[in-house]
This record gives sequence, C-alpha cells and structure tokens, in this order.
Amino acid sequence: MKPIKVGLLGLGTVGTGVVRIVEGHQEDLQSQVGLPIVIEKVLVQNKTKSRSISIDPDKLTEDPWDIIRHPDIDVVVEVMGGIAGTKEYIIEALSRGKHVVTANKDLMALHGPEIVAKAKENGCDILYEASVAGGIPILRTLVDGFSSDRITKIMGIVNGTTNYILTKMSQEGASYSDVLKEAQELGYAEADPTSDVEGLDAARKMTILATLGFRTNVSLANVSAKGISQVSKEDILYAKRLGYELKLLGIAERQDDLVSISVQPTMVKQTHPIASVNGVFNAVYVYGDAVGETMFYGAGAGELPTATSIVADLVAVVKNLKLGVSGKQNGVADYKETKLKSDD
Ligand code: NAP
Ligand code: HSE
Repeated sequence: MKPIKVGLLGLGTVGTGVVRIVEGHQEDLQSQVGLPIVIEKVLVQNKTKSRSISIDPDKLTEDPWDIIRHPDIDVVVEVMGGIAGTKEYIIEALSRGKHVVTANKDLMALHGPEIVAKAKENGCDILYEASVAGGIPILRTLVDGFSSDRITKIMGIVNGTTNYILTKMSQEGASYSDVLKEAQELGYAEADPTSDVEGLDAARKMTILATLGFRTNVSLANVSAKGISQVSKEDILYAKRLGYELKLLGIAERQDDLVSISVQPTMVKQTHPIASVNGVFNAVYVYGDAVGETMFYGAGAGELPTATSIVADLVAVVKNLKLGVSGKQNGVADYKETKLKSDD
C-alpha cells in the first residue's frame, strides 16, 4: 500500500493543527481512504524556531522548491499565507501534477479563476474549504448541498478575530487594542491584522462564498468593506441599550443578474440568532429559493477547527485520486463574470 505523501507549506497555527490531525486521526483517515497519509516535508521560514509539536528535523526545509519539485510528493498543503510567492508555488505544483489544498482566502479571492483553470488543465484537485469560516464546511455545502437550489442571499459573520474583539468589548468592556493582541496570541488574526480589523479578510471570504453560492465569478475589487477599527465601546453600549448587538456582517445578494457584496459593522436585533454568535465563532446564513433560510455555525479560526477543514480536503483529494476523478470538482473557472451592482 503506497502512502499518499504530503508536502506542507507552513507550520504555524494551521500547519501545526494539520500535523496533529494527520498524526492523531491516522487510523480514522486510513479507514476512509485505504492508504496511509504521510507528511513528507514541511516548509518553514526558520528551522531553528522552537515549536509546540515535535517534528523530525529532517522533514523541515526553508526552501519551497524542495517540496514543489519533490518527485514523490502527491499533495501540497499550503498554509503559509501571502499572495505573490505563494501563487507561484501553487501554480508550479499544479503544473507538475500535484494536487493542492489551501487555506489562503487572499489568494483564492484574487486569483481563484486562474488557479482553478491551471488545476483543471493538469487534472489536479484544488480545494480550499479552510479559506472561509474555519471549521464550518460551508464551501462544500454551497457547491454540493445546494446544487438543487438557487441561492439568493448569503449573510454572515465570517471573521473570527473581529467577532472575538466585539464580543469581549461588549461583554467585558475590554479595550479594542488589548483584545486584538489576545486574538493575535491565540492565532486567530492574520499575519497583518489590518485585513481582519478593516474588513478585507471578510470581504475576501464573502467573494469566495458569493462565487460558489451564486455560481458566477465575482470580482473582489467591487466589494465595499468597512471594518471595526473605528467602533468604540460607547457604540456597542448604545446599540445594546436599543436592543441590538454590533456585529461585523458580510452580506452578498443576487437580484436578477446583479450581485452586491458588502462588509460593515451592523446593528443586529438581539432576538436574531446571529446576535448570539460570540467569540471566535462564525455563522453563515444561506437563503435559497426552494430551501428558504438555513444557518451554519462553528469555530471560524484557530488551529484545530481550521485544520479539520484542511484534512477533510486532503481526504477528498485521496478519494478522488482513487476514483480517477481528480480535477473534475466544481470550480470557479467555469463561471461567467457577473456584474456587481457597484459596477454601474
Ligand atoms: P502563521 O501562524 O503565521 O504560520 C505561517 C507559517 O508559514 C509559519 O510556519 C512560517 O514559518 C511559514 N512561512 C511563512 N512565510 C514563509 C516563507 N516565505 N517561507 C517559508 N515559510 C514561511 O499563519 P497561520 O495562522 O497558520 O495561517 C496560515 C494561512 O491559513 C493563511 O493564509 C491564513 O490566512 C490562513 N488561515 C488561518 C486561520 C487561522 O485561524 N490562523 C484560519 C483560516 C485560514 P515559521 O514557523 O518558521 O515562522
Ligand atoms: N484571521 C481570520 C479570522 C482567520 O480571524 O477569521 C480565519 O480565516
């Protein structure tokens, strides 16, 4: 039984979770795919850094090409973040016939169509469940679970860091900067947390959700995003007194052939289920013509919840390989560009 060999780009918050789940759940994973899954090589920036897991030092490399050009690696799991260099590695890995799993919403929101096209050209899978809403399997749900329906609206809390900050400010009167620091220490925030607090991370996720949910290519450039950096404790308190919670809400709507997407701090009535989504938790509402209203809830960031989605993608890649259907999954490349309302 030849094992599936994985090259892991990154061993930070998410990469560490991937190693823990692949090793800790190995028996369960094998029972599903019939093959051992082995982490063959791991890219880091600094091999001498102390880590929270023990890893064979011979597996560590500081050279991404040791993984991308490795003849025996079947799947590249990208959890290093960034856009320019990362895109080059992923495109090259796909060109070499390696399947790719990524948590990188920045990359997929900006270059999704090109990357998916490259994957299809080479008969490879590119899966990115972890890029939106951490441990909630929302991308699969949109693509497969709602394939029978016409989704008209997707609304949600899709950034864990900002929801954690707003919750602590609301419930404990904590200061914005103290809680942001805490979210960074917990591994929730991006390397540059500006994208979390200014709403860009949520905008990227809403772009991915709208693309898959509405089955159309949506351009990030036209998404309006406003974050929480200007929200004060007083704003939160006044909202509360009026019977509302302040939440960073992403809303994507489709009317006829037009799509609109926005991210902004929003007053949510305390009686609405989304008002009670607290801490690092995310929630995504999906409205379909036939199904009506549905809601998905779970941890939106952090080591193990995010790694759960990555390893589920890894299992899907191996199942596809065994069935000989790699590269056939739904992807953004096939969709036509849709006009956004703000294009006018
Ligand atoms: P992180 O903790 O900062 O880890 C990044 C890892 O990549 C580190 O191991 C780092 O090496 C390595 N790395 C970064 N740049 C590198 C380079 N140029 N060359 C070699 N190695 C490099 O990041 P993270 O929080 O795990 O996030 C990783 C990705 O997952 C990002 O795209 C993020 O948006 C996404 N994501 C994160 C979460 C979350 O909850 N954190 C959730 C969903 C998606 P060293 O260890 O040596 O520094
Ligand atoms: N920084 C992101 C968040 C990580 O806080 O939601 C999960 O995508």
